[in-house]
Amino acid sequence: MAVTDAPLILKLSVDDAIAGLALSSEAHWNQTEEDWRIFLRDGIVFGIRDGMRLVATAALLPYSGNNAWISMVLVSGTHRRRGLATRLVDACLETARKNGLTSWLDATPDGAAVYGPLGFTPTLQLRRLKLTRPGRAELPPSSSATLEELAERDRRATGFDRTALLSAFAQRAGSLIVAANGAIALVRDGRTARHIGPLLADNAAAALVLVDQITRSETSPLLLDAVASQAAFMDGLTASGWTIERPFQRMRFGPATAAGEDMPFAVAGPEFG
Ligand SMILES: CC(C)(COP(=O)(O)OP(=O)(O)OC[C@H]1O[C@@H](n2cnc3c(N)ncnc32)[C@H](O)[C@@H]1OP(=O)(O)O)[C@@H](O)C(=O)NCCC(=O)NCCS
Repeated sequence: MAVTDAPLILKLSVDDAIAGLALSSEAHWNQTEEDWRIFLRDGIVFGIRDGMRLVATAALLPYSGNNAWISMVLVSGTHRRRGLATRLVDACLETARKNGLTSWLDATPDGAAVYGPLGFTPTLQLRRLKLTRPGRAELPPSSSATLEELAERDRRATGFDRTALLSAFAQRAGSLIVAANGAIALVRDGRTARHIGPLLADNAAAALVLVDQITRSETSPLLLDAVASQAAFMDGLTASGWTIERPFQRMRFGPATAAGEDMPFAVAGPEFG
């Protein structure tokens, strides 16, 4: 593709899941093919190909209450700094505008450089934390927590009804919903690490006890995306061996919509909010 070519923006289909996975894997992201299928099936994924190869993507996932999440903004290393991400995010914003949706995203530092000039404004800060060597392969914590409880708690925290998304996560092999002392979390498989989130709790102590219970039964590396303002939670995690990998900046484009009443401790993931 010559630099001067105007790239054709395509709407991708579920048949593009493997090609999408190649792009997110190139960026060392943790998404699985199942994650890509959620965006391709329930959202709109725009893409640009160079010949047969998918080289750039951006996804818009509609949420309740006139909201949408933008994510999977990925450009192959061979095609960066040609305006492809800007064009694809513009396509997402145009779709959101036509449908009257406020767009949200969690930006990597590279992504924030693209979104700021497009008119996104920063909201809260997140931190990606990793635990490379978790537990002792104990039995998973027993829990009678239900998907309904998780979805209701998540709705109070985010302001979005994400029952369908959380249900899709919960149905996957390897997923767990765990709860203790008023804290509740979902654990799911990722490409290279298991992911804890969303994690909702009454206080940092309860959130930390639940993370500790989860880590004891896990043998793979673990990730979670903590809300940075939950300082006691972050301090407790770093004191128990978790390391901060990178920041994410939550950003919004469009009018403020209904905000959640409770602040989560960890979000579902930057790609889902
Ligand atoms: C971030 C990413 C999507 C940008 O894709 P891209 O097609 O190169 O971005 P664009 O060409 O549209 O960049 C538009 C502007 O954003 C800024 N920008 C883009 N990448 C930047 C970077 N790495 N550092 C600083 N500024 C950057 C520049 O101002 C650029 O304009 P310029 O090239 O005229 O200076 C790409 O680097 C990528 O896939 N990174 C890895 C995955 C990632 O972090 N995705 C974002 C998730 S939120």
